[in-house]
Amino acid sequence: MDYKKDIALALSSITGIDAGELEEYIEIPPNSEMGDFAFPCFKLARTLRKAPPAIAAELKEKITLPDYFSDVQVAGGYLNFFADKSSFAKKTIEAVFNQGEKYGSSDEGQGRNVCIDYSSINIAKPFHIGHLSSTVIGHSLYRIFNHLGYNSVGINHLGDWGTQFGKLIVAYKKWGDRETIEKQSVKGLLEIYVKFHDEAEKDESLNDEARFWFKKIEEGDKEALELFAWFKELTLREVKKVYDMLDITFDSYAGESFYNDKMGAVIDELKEKNLLKEDKGAMIVDLEEYNMPPCLILRSDGATLYATRDLAAAMYRKKTYDFYKNLYVVAYQQDLHFKQIFKVIELMGYDWYKDMVHVSFGMVSLPDGTLSTRKGKVLFLEDVLKSAVEKTLEIMQEKNPDLEKKELVAKQVGVGAVVWNSLYNGRIKDITFSWDKALNFEGETGPYAQYTHARCCSVIRKAESEGISVSLDDIDYSVFEDEESRAVIKALEAFPKAVKEASVKYEPYLISRNIIDICKAYNKFYFEHRIMGEQENVMKARIALTMAVKTVIKTGLYLVGLEAPEKM
Ligand code: ARG
Repeated sequence: MDYKKDIALALSSITGIDAGELEEYIEIPPNSEMGDFAFPCFKLARTLRKAPPAIAAELKEKITLPDYFSDVQVAGGYLNFFADKSSFAKKTIEAVFNQGEKYGSSDEGQGRNVCIDYSSINIAKPFHIGHLSSTVIGHSLYRIFNHLGYNSVGINHLGDWGTQFGKLIVAYKKWGDRETIEKQSVKGLLEIYVKFHDEAEKDESLNDEARFWFKKIEEGDKEALELFAWFKELTLREVKKVYDMLDITFDSYAGESFYNDKMGAVIDELKEKNLLKEDKGAMIVDLEEYNMPPCLILRSDGATLYATRDLAAAMYRKKTYDFYKNLYVVAYQQDLHFKQIFKVIELMGYDWYKDMVHVSFGMVSLPDGTLSTRKGKVLFLEDVLKSAVEKTLEIMQEKNPDLEKKELVAKQVGVGAVVWNSLYNGRIKDITFSWDKALNFEGETGPYAQYTHARCCSVIRKAESEGISVSLDDIDYSVFEDEESRAVIKALEAFPKAVKEASVKYEPYLISRNIIDICKAYNKFYFEHRIMGEQENVMKARIALTMAVKTVIKTGLYLVGLEAPEKM
């Protein structure tokens, strides 16, 4: 049963309008007195040349629906649909029980590859709070696409090429010390990098030295390469700690330097296709016709650029993964860059340019201004996560001192709180990072969702300890007549659509919002109804509802990258 689809089909057979389009218009009314689904007839007023109430009345007259709808009513310009209560509950709870943690999954992807370029950190630069969004949005999309039957390919397109490595070598040779830097890792590198910039302002010749050393890297000089490899290793060792905390792995770490030997072919192809133009000694693809500045391919000194590498990377990904989609989870500052890349691929004659998507997002800033590596004003993600865990542990000591495995749970909840903070709003919104908000355990946060999950687990444990087990055959669906359980069931029913929508719009927050709807509804239900000690059919039905809620919250949390502890 798919209620929305059934309504759309029934309306389509009357109006002749495409069912897919009609389905898009169907809304969930704010309260159940107005039905379970509503069709806003004003959407058709233009096409049908009638006032919305008249359309509603006419549709009501003509419509035939499957018998699991109990009523259709006209309310102003809306047509409200009422699902038969117990079959709605039955359908939803059966689906959750049968699919378990696969609830909301599908095989629409048919194993096709979806490349997701995310996190994509820069070597020798800190993994700061600004990278958090890319990392957690990308990771969530990774899980969402897998849930829908695609094969996600996670790519960390490392920023491991560029003149800054020349600067770093100079800085290291002048002011660095191997042992200290081994110990301080990226922070140590950052320190000498900042020093380089301060000193270079006074002494221009440092920049020449940096260019000299970068050239050595390019030429494959042994000492230069050894240092470069060491910077990379230090950085990766450092970020691995963060990825471990977030439970993230990548399928590929092919970054900018990986394409060193793959750009020649792209440049040749651009030449062959007459797309390359000289401009003051540099080579560009002219995009004036498309209202964009030129895409810079080769600098006048022959050096390749970020864009050149991304073109090579796109070609490589197509060849290697034959992707169905190629997503770039990168901040909106790079909107123009990706527009240019996609355009150049299109001009090269590849129709798969349509399958490349820039999943852009807003900036995370500190309350007192933006983040800048140059000035060294950064909040390191690892420190943020660690403090979150510590603060969580403090709260737990106070609230639940006897909790088993407190450290583990504090890690799951503390990290979850920070992750959730980036996934509870539309991507494009700028976020100011705030401790209070991230760690607020009430309100619409990750910890609140985790807490609700733990509450369900505790209800289920209680039932088990009393020897009560519930299977699908035991459920008396007529128990779910009350407003509160109906609201829970409605929220559960909406989950698969939220997952699907999240994949279509590349917006994990659609899942977070649905999880919160489920949690709020369940907590309301929990406070207003008794479970244990009720008559057997009532008790079992409510335990079943609790089991379904637990399963769906857990799956939802997993999809946005959070753990679901059983006790908190
Ligand atoms: N390393 C870049 C940065 O931190 C992001 C790379 C994104 N991916 C890409 N293929 N361009 O700004």
